[in-house]
Amino acid sequence: MPIEQICTIVSAEKLNEFAWSFTLEAGDLVKREGLRAGQFLHVKCGAEHLLRRPISVCLAQADEPVDLVRIVFEVRGEGTAWLSRRKAGDRLSVLAPLGNGFECGEKDRLLLVGGGIGVPPLLGQAAYTWGRSVAVLGFRCAERAMLVEDFREKCTQVVLCSDDGSLGHHGFVDEQVRRILAKDQTVASVLACGPKPMLRAVAAAAAEYGVRCQVSLEERMACGIGACLGCAIRMADGTMKHVCKDGPVFEAEEVDWNV
Ligand SMILES: Cc1cc2nc3c(=O)[nH]c(=O)nc-3n(C[C@H](O)[C@H](O)[C@H](O)COP(=O)(O)OP(=O)(O)OC[C@H]3O[C@@H](n4cnc5c(N)ncnc54)[C@H](O)[C@@H]3O)c2cc1C
Ligand code: FES
Repeated sequence: MPIEQICTIVSAEKLNEFAWSFTLEAGDLVKREGLRAGQFLHVKCGAEHLLRRPISVCLAQADEPVDLVRIVFEVRGEGTAWLSRRKAGDRLSVLAPLGNGFECGEKDRLLLVGGGIGVPPLLGQAAYTWGRSVAVLGFRCAERAMLVEDFREKCTQVVLCSDDGSLGHHGFVDEQVRRILAKDQTVASVLACGPKPMLRAVAAAAAEYGVRCQVSLEERMACGIGACLGCAIRMADGTMKHVCKDGPVFEAEEVDWNV
């Protein structure tokens, strides 16, 4: 059951020209409500914005006296611009836990595939499967890279890609996904988060190798709790689902990739 929690920002860090990382004191949201990475918070971005903004949980840590939750975001419009002006000590109203999160076991070897601002929600899965998973991280260019050292600490291997060749492999992440799956038959699941064309390509690559693929989808949201139909999407079987309540994580084969 989502609750409203007033969270104090304990640290606010700029990761690069475009992205901010906040660590929040989040009451008992992890211990009592089971908040975990891959779910999302609905964040109130100032009195002037009626609608909250969905931001994924990057890391969730049960702690004393209060739990800690890390979020990472880029400025896209007025709401996230307001958020980027908050400082350590400021307080945020968040609604959480929301969404389902990825499904994986602690002992699983995962292939984590992130694109751009889709990278942060996968860090929690890297921490959960510490020392077992592989990450493929794609960015438009080197200036937009983020959290690379955090993934290196937690994964057996980190493969970097960029659209313009300024970082790692020149090209898209699905090429590297194919290369890894062709060599490694121990991957339990591919977990992907990023823009829809990237997710479609990664889903196709995983299907070619018969590996389970879970994708985290992004839709414009209003209520965040399944009440307004704002985030409804069509599934492969013709039914409609809510990204906020039934997702944001779906089995790739459930998704209608043609809409
Ligand atoms: C489940 C989920 C998790 C997300 N996690 C992150 C994250 O970890 N980091 C991050 O930087 N961004 C994340 N986003 C995208 C983020 O919510 C949007 O960038 C943000 O809502 C834009 O708000 P704005 O006021 O800055 O932009 P505006 O364009 O001014 O927003 C206007 C309205 O559109 C909605 N909106 C605009 N773009 C999006 C979008 N892409 N997705 C959903 N709603 C949108 C806003 O909620 C608002 O109601 C996530 C989106 C979803 C659905
Ligand atoms: S945002 Fe209202 S139903 Fe999903």
